Amino acid sequence: MTKVGLSPNKRTMTQSPDKTAAKKLHIKTFGCQMNAYDSERMAEALQPAGFQLTDDVYDADLVVLNTCHIREKAAEKVYSELGRLRKAKEARKTEGRDTMVAVAGCVAQAEGKEIVSRAPVVDIVVGPQSLHRLADLVAEVSSTGKVLVETDFPAEEKFAELPQRADGKRQVSAFVTVQEGCDKFCTFCVVPYTRGSEYSRTPGEVVAEVERLATRGVREVTLLGQNVNAYHGDGPDGESWPLAQLLRRLGEIPSIERLRFTTSHPHDMDDDLIALFGDEQKLMPYLHLPFQSGSDRILAAMNRKHTAEEYEALIARIRAARTDLALSTDIIVGFPGETDADFEATLDLVARVGFAQAYSFKYSARPGTPAANLEDQVPEAAKKERLAALQTLLEEGRRSFDRQLVGRSLPVLFESKGRNPGQIRGRSPYLQAVHVDGPETLIGEIAEVDISSAGPNSLTGVMKSGIEWREPVQAAQ
Ligand code: SAH
Ligand code: SF4
Ligand code: F3S
Repeated sequence: MTKVGLSPNKRTMTQSPDKTAAKKLHIKTFGCQMNAYDSERMAEALQPAGFQLTDDVYDADLVVLNTCHIREKAAEKVYSELGRLRKAKEARKTEGRDTMVAVAGCVAQAEGKEIVSRAPVVDIVVGPQSLHRLADLVAEVSSTGKVLVETDFPAEEKFAELPQRADGKRQVSAFVTVQEGCDKFCTFCVVPYTRGSEYSRTPGEVVAEVERLATRGVREVTLLGQNVNAYHGDGPDGESWPLAQLLRRLGEIPSIERLRFTTSHPHDMDDDLIALFGDEQKLMPYLHLPFQSGSDRILAAMNRKHTAEEYEALIARIRAARTDLALSTDIIVGFPGETDADFEATLDLVARVGFAQAYSFKYSARPGTPAANLEDQVPEAAKKERLAALQTLLEEGRRSFDRQLVGRSLPVLFESKGRNPGQIRGRSPYLQAVHVDGPETLIGEIAEVDISSAGPNSLTGVMKSGIEWREPVQAAQ
């Protein structure tokens, strides 16, 4: 399942192993979509060195863990994973096969060589801005047997040097990183330290990448950035292009039918971008806009640069531009000093705004961030209780958003086969998965669907009558 939002979930890259290839590569991805994008780029960067993807870790000559540092739990997962890899490496050794282990991503950046001291199984530590160096690092480790740690910050170099997507399977919806890093320094967050300061790719580069994707059948593009709406790329006209201008330009690519972007910061929602929700037909009516807390005192301590009232006023302006907007958000409970009253303010804001989707987290103290040193850390039991109460409310909101879609007709972009035979699966403009009986020939197409029911995780519908589609041609036996 690919959900828009920067909330960590675990993915394993899968591709049928090539039995003839000399070397096998296994990549396990944690964290946000920017990591997923980076994992794809790493796989391509290693292809010229003869590495083919395998989903069997025991089969892999090189294992890359692309890691996330956002919360303690995410970071600790890396070490349990490395424990398992040590055993795999030992088992392969007894068969005379070597295994190289690389730790990439945000834990690599944050912990650097500490990782090697804690887990000697690791051969390479490579930060998110140095991924383009991975093939060289692998070659160097192969010849010298040395352990290498590379955690520099040349983002520009990374995008310039990473190879472009390799041809391959049909992909209907694609993510494209356009901005990386963060200068906001929310007091709870590691991203400014793991991804460095804000950097935007040029519109020229982005347009070229999206055009290439379009020629391979991609119909929907989600622009990614830690603060994607702070995007400011140097345009071919010598001007700095804001995100709205980039989206408008991408909307001119004929076969790109849908545009999305994530994650945005409320502070960077400018008028042009808000207006675009009303003007640009291809921009989907879905916005992920984290607010973190409904209490102004906590928002100030978090350094979020806005109050609850300002957030609500902003939402009202965006909804005025696009009345059917589906909103998504991120919320933290148990930030240091959060009282019951502060938490109530968060619940109230959720109830007033109404979210179609949300990601909520218990505050996790991260080493090196200002909030980690604050006194009055909230006890775990209180955090747990608040999270449960919040999630109940959010789930009600999500279900009620989905329910009001039942009986409506929605354009669905079909992405893949469905759960059951004869079914196909797509997404509504509001990002819910939609299951419909229909032919696979519709994958990559948009068709109107009458939504008939809303399940716990997806909608079900029937193809609107009058829509023309061909039955798949059966090959002669
Ligand atoms: N740039 C995005 C968020 C990136 S991190 C933004 O500004 O909103 C994704 C989410 O993880 C954050 O929105 C926040 O809700 C959560 N998060 C970040 N640091 C956290 C921490 N230390 N403890 C708990 N949740 C955290
Ligand atoms: Fe982290 Fe705040 Fe930057 Fe988002 S805006 S990445 S929460 S520091
Ligand atoms: Fe995690 Fe790094 Fe993304 S800390 S959320 S993988 S930017």
